[in-house]
Amino acid sequence: MALLNILRYPDARLHKVAVPVTVFDDPLKQLVADMAETMYEAPGIGLAATQVDVHKQLIVIDVSERRDSLVVLINPEIVDASGVSDIEEGCLSVPGIYDTLERAERVKVRAHDQNGKLFTLEAQGLLAVCIQHEMDHLKGKVFVESLSQLKQQRIRARLAKQLRKSA
Ligand code: NI
Repeated sequence: MALLNILRYPDARLHKVAVPVTVFDDPLKQLVADMAETMYEAPGIGLAATQVDVHKQLIVIDVSERRDSLVVLINPEIVDASGVSDIEEGCLSVPGIYDTLERAERVKVRAHDQNGKLFTLEAQGLLAVCIQHEMDHLKGKVFVESLSQLKQQRIRARLAKQLRKSA
């Protein structure tokens, strides 16, 4: 297993649109394992392949406190959504920034597992919000880009300051 490098906003590669996975082979399983390890190490509750510069429709999530409930979603598709959630979200690609977006409270998602088997998952609360957040990454969207222009300006200024400090 290997830790993967997580792209940081505003890296342009975060805007690439992921393509569906068509081959469920050993390299794919290795990628899933590496992404899970990278997410747990960060630590984070979700990671999309886009964030590690692999532009395939693949997401790993674990919102459990014990960090023992890995969810792997390949080619995910939301088939039902309801309610409104306002859980605050953050992102491993935008460290230190947290904000709320309008998200569905419950989603039903259809996806393949790493063996290519199709399954349906019903999620609510944090898991539902996390699924929507990670699926946005696959479309090339970073959550902060849905915030107001003023908030985005502040975030860019804050990230630039972080960068100067770490340089
Ligand atoms: Ni994110």
